[in-house]
Amino acid sequence: MPVSPGTSEFETHGSSNQMRSDVKTYRSFCLLFALLFFAACEKPAPVAVETAPVSAETVAADPARAAIAIPDSQSAQVTADILAKGGNAVDAAVAAGFALAVTEPEAGNIGGGGFMLIYLDDKAYFLDYRETAPLAAHRDMYLDENGDVIEGMSTLGHLASGVPGAVAGLWSAHQRFGKLPWRDLVMPAVALARDGFVVHPDLADTIRYGTRKFDGKTNFSKYFASAKAGEIFRQPELADTLQRIADEGANGFYSGKTAELIVAEMKRGNGLISAEDLQRYVAVWREPLTAKWRDFMVLSAPPPSSGGFAVIQLLKIKDLLSHEFEGLEHNSAQYVHLIAEIEKRVFADRAEYLGDSDFVDVPMDRLLSDAYLKQRAREISVDSISQLDNVHPGLESMDTTHYSIVDFDGNAVATTTTLNLSFGSGVVVEGAGFLLNDEMDDFSVKPGVPNAFGVIGNTANEIQPGKRMLSSMSPTILTRDGKVDFVVGSPGGSTIFTTVFQMIVNSYDFGMTAVESAGASRFHHQLLQPDVVTYSPSVPLPDETISQLSDRGYRAIPHPFDYGDVQTIRRVDDTWDAGSDPRNRGESRVLERGQQD
Ligand code: GLY
Repeated sequence: MPVSPGTSEFETHGSSNQMRSDVKTYRSFCLLFALLFFAACEKPAPVAVETAPVSAETVAADPARAAIAIPDSQSAQVTADILAKGGNAVDAAVAAGFALAVTEPEAGNIGGGGFMLIYLDDKAYFLDYRETAPLAAHRDMYLDENGDVIEGMSTLGHLASGVPGAVAGLWSAHQRFGKLPWRDLVMPAVALARDGFVVHPDLADTIRYGTRKFDGKTNFSKYFASAKAGEIFRQPELADTLQRIADEGANGFYSGKTAELIVAEMKRGNGLISAEDLQRYVAVWREPLTAKWRDFMVLSAPPPSSGGFAVIQLLKIKDLLSHEFEGLEHNSAQYVHLIAEIEKRVFADRAEYLGDSDFVDVPMDRLLSDAYLKQRAREISVDSISQLDNVHPGLESMDTTHYSIVDFDGNAVATTTTLNLSFGSGVVVEGAGFLLNDEMDDFSVKPGVPNAFGVIGNTANEIQPGKRMLSSMSPTILTRDGKVDFVVGSPGGSTIFTTVFQMIVNSYDFGMTAVESAGASRFHHQLLQPDVVTYSPSVPLPDETISQLSDRGYRAIPHPFDYGDVQTIRRVDDTWDAGSDPRNRGESRVLERGQQD
């Protein structure tokens, strides 16, 4: 069965012929890439979610407990402290965001952007603080005179950065929903930067990797090479920047000294971000994507993310094929095959239709309509691998960060935020001490042709000044009878939404606890290469599954990294079950009122 985006129904955004003609180039690229890869302030609109009355039989009262699942122990402590002081989930998320900008430099940030999904007083809100292309950016900015992509230009160095959105986002969230004073939320991060924190061995390893990667190319080593496992690491320039943000709010970043330092850094490296870009940046409140799934409402990320669209398509198509899944064991060969077949279709649609909806029409209603999903379910090849025809995959980067929080009143926040690759562009703003993102690589640097990291797309995701690049980030909340039931998200580029999907089905179909589900083997397929399924190396798929997949024509191979860093919270009776991915240095806690740690 050939795989293509559902073009019979939808208008396309660009030249499919161009894309087809580039498939050959792309295949060669994929081979090469695989070798390398496998070797190595508007008014917010609340969304009414579920009007059905809460039923005592099905939903326990909100637990008088809070829960967090977050990527490291320092940010866990900051978050727990804010909740203990009476902060709500948004306060806690804002404080966590700033803390992670200090303690998780590979992904936590103030020089990048992200998405925050909020469920507060039974209403859902989505805040988009994704980076934007600078005003001086243009479609062909990463192409040479022959029209070929210049390797590394969109991932490393000054030109790779979009206009950061993180501080505007955290400020906007707090302005709208915060209970505690702004300063109280930023000062813990100031303290972590000024007084330092003890470096976890995993962070020391990651920094060693960054030092090698950016050696001689950016100023990364000057700022980070001194961080050693078990020793205290201080970031005085970052502390000063955070102090300005604590004192002046978003203005402490987008104007004044911090803005001057960013613009000076751009001038030093021929980057594009200008004072005007910083002044004009706004975080945007959008409607979350919502869909009914079984007894739940799924709330997730709308464009410019592809994450919500993908999670919803995956869940719904899987249920349309429930007769095929009946009795299948978790991660058995047939289970993996069927999910891979669904993933092929999701990635084909993603590449063709998804982009920043402020710039392009994304036919979301049709992509999520029952009729269309039924059509896609019918296309699934139950017994064999679908062949490629008109193929437009995505293949993205690996580092981003996510945290999940539920406060003592049952409100929830799922936040995913990113610099793109580990440590972003590798450029630290001199004098301000923070890393800038390399998010420009999430655009299609040349529509129809994969960029240096294999992202392929169409004109929907081409570069335009002020546009937001397509993301896969999928902060997701499931509610049942209007109450939070599940909070989840993960880093992992294009593996994000397949990971989030597996977390949901692991929990609801296989009854796993949050930690079991986070720790289980994960697999991923994304259309190209058509026969490749990757799995997490530290927890491989069962041998029998690998061998049966091989018999069926798949190459089931380990990912070189344990992609994803899942942070989940699930309601269980009258309490929460919180789980942090055991592959990494995260921490989960269920908190009693009055408890500090
Ligand atoms: N930079 C990864 C993403 O936004 O999907």
